[in-house]
Amino acid sequence: MAGSFMRYFNNKIIKKKLSDIIKVGVGGAITFVSLNIYFQNDKFYDNLVMPVFRHLDPEMAHSLAVTAAKYKLIPQFKLEESKLLGSLVFGLHFRSPFGLAAGFDKNGEAVEGLSRMGFGFVEVGSVTPQPQPGNAKPRVFRLTPDQAIINRYGFNSDGHDAVYERLSHLPPPGQRQAILGINLGKNKTSQDALADYTAGVHKFGSIADYLVINISSPNTPGLRDLQQRQELEKLLKGVLEARDSLPSQHKPPVLLKVAPDISDTEKQQIAIVAINYKVDGLVVSNTTISRPAALQSPHKEETGGLSGAPLKSLATATIKDMYQLTKGSVPIIGVGGVASGQDAYEKIRAGASLIQLYTGLIYTGPQLIPRATHELEQLLRDDDFSSVAEAVGVDSKKS
Ligand SMILES: Cc1cc2nc3c(=O)[nH]c(=O)nc-3n(C[C@H](O)[C@H](O)[C@H](O)COP(=O)(O)O)c2cc1C
Repeated sequence: MAGSFMRYFNNKIIKKKLSDIIKVGVGGAITFVSLNIYFQNDKFYDNLVMPVFRHLDPEMAHSLAVTAAKYKLIPQFKLEESKLLGSLVFGLHFRSPFGLAAGFDKNGEAVEGLSRMGFGFVEVGSVTPQPQPGNAKPRVFRLTPDQAIINRYGFNSDGHDAVYERLSHLPPPGQRQAILGINLGKNKTSQDALADYTAGVHKFGSIADYLVINISSPNTPGLRDLQQRQELEKLLKGVLEARDSLPSQHKPPVLLKVAPDISDTEKQQIAIVAINYKVDGLVVSNTTISRPAALQSPHKEETGGLSGAPLKSLATATIKDMYQLTKGSVPIIGVGGVASGQDAYEKIRAGASLIQLYTGLIYTGPQLIPRATHELEQLLRDDDFSSVAEAVGVDSKKS
């Protein structure tokens, strides 16, 4: 019986037929997927792509998504030039206030694909000077009932040289589809944080539209201590001197990314230092090490930074505090739990000039960008604002 099956299978005609069926099947599947991506079919993402991604290991899903973006196998959302959504922040023109937060494209592999998704800006990184593997796996966890993520990647990075090599092929600043931010980190074993960050300023200063000094990731031991006043002053002084020493034609704005878990005193000190040293902007906030009591997921006790819906109100409150403490003089990128136009609008009204998101994208998919963009436009119009800038901080000025 087995012998006659093998003879049948080895038959050339049967082999050819099987290979044709496979080719037609694979070809059909590729055409189906391509057409759906090309025609921006919402249901295709909601009902097919996102459920498949949700069943994959979270880190594998992350690398697949980066690869898809790298090969531009993701939907495109063309941003029209609009007075309502466009704004000038730290000297840069943003076509949309929505940006992709750091941590998605850590190694600058997919900037062009991601820029086509409808983001006004894309932040690459965190990038460390030397390549490093990050923490042991598993290190990313989906908290699905909470619409949240806990990650303890620990700055897995290809390092400055490899990331610079990739980004140097992009069009130069001013000629890109979206503004490019580069988020700098430090190596886990480095004893000299200042040297790591200034190395980043020198390496990426000529190609970044803006730079972020990330001292708020919870996954690198001691990193958050740099938010203390004396440490922070020393760090910012050195970093800003390095930026000012760059050739005169391009000195990118330098922003500071802070944690949402800082005390009132720390917030006051960060505000004073940011004003005194003329930091160009704040990114508020990174993930939280706190664990709100309402978390449902069995992964809620995993070590790492929590992002997504449970971070939303904490991040917005921190934005409000930093806006008030700096009297609106230091532009803020608001980030944490944004999954709709309404979420973005609340952060803008609290004091954010720009918005970033990451976890919302994991749960909603690429359609989140056009949806949130249209929703934000409508909310601004409903309240008679003629630009995002007009709405910045309106809720924080009241109290
Ligand atoms: C998986 C993952 C990796 C991240 N990696 C970084 C990083 O390397 N550097 C950084 O500054 N922030 C990193 N973040 C924090 C995000 O940039 C953002 O501040 C945070 O997730 C809150 O936004 P969200 O609720 O929209 O995700 C990471 C977040 C996630 C979920």
